Amino acid sequence: MTVVSPYEVRRARGDQEYADLLDLRYEVFCVEQGVPRHEELDGRDHGGVHLVAVREGEVLGTCRLVFVGTTVQFSRLAVRKSARRRGIATTLLEEADAQSRAADARRLVLHAQTYARELYERAGYRTRGRPFVEAGIEHVAMEKTL
Ligand SMILES: CC(C)(COP(=O)(O)OP(=O)(O)OC[C@H]1O[C@@H](n2cnc3c(N)ncnc32)[C@H](O)[C@@H]1OP(=O)(O)O)[C@@H](O)C(=O)NCCC(=O)NCCS
Repeated sequence: MTVVSPYEVRRARGDQEYADLLDLRYEVFCVEQGVPRHEELDGRDHGGVHLVAVREGEVLGTCRLVFVGTTVQFSRLAVRKSARRRGIATTLLEEADAQSRAADARRLVLHAQTYARELYERAGYRTRGRPFVEAGIEHVAMEKTL
């Protein structure tokens, strides 16, 4: 029997983990989805809080929170292909809520890829407005009040 150890979800720690989460984003957004590197690296990483899902030192998932007043801009949610549909993104969204509440934020906003809308709806987000194209991919704006 194969025993799969649990993963933890928390803020990223240290230079190596930061490099690893950027590598995962590159693999998912640039290699898998074809987003140009210069759009993936939008210059907002240094001002953001990065969350990771880690198992035995391997970054399986990540997302970013950028605080603007009492609003949190949520983005860069990516889960390693081999680890999908096991609730990792959902757990990252829960931790994003916890981190946002701890910082006294009132709402989270994001641009969801349309195909993944259900993920965010299940986490309590609602859609605002019509779909639009960003980085060559159809998105929709969503938000959640805390
Ligand atoms: C989207 C993504 C982050 C989801 O990560 P995940 O860990 O597999 O998501 P979860 O296991 O928490 O999924 C929870 C629910 O969200 C929905 N969902 C997740 N992936 C989905 C998909 N590819 N298509 C449709 N619904 C999906 C489902 O309702 C799912 O529940 P179910 O597995 O019981 O059907 C992952 O597929 C990914 O990294 N994709 C590439 C990058 C990307 O598109 N990022 C999102 C940008 S908005």
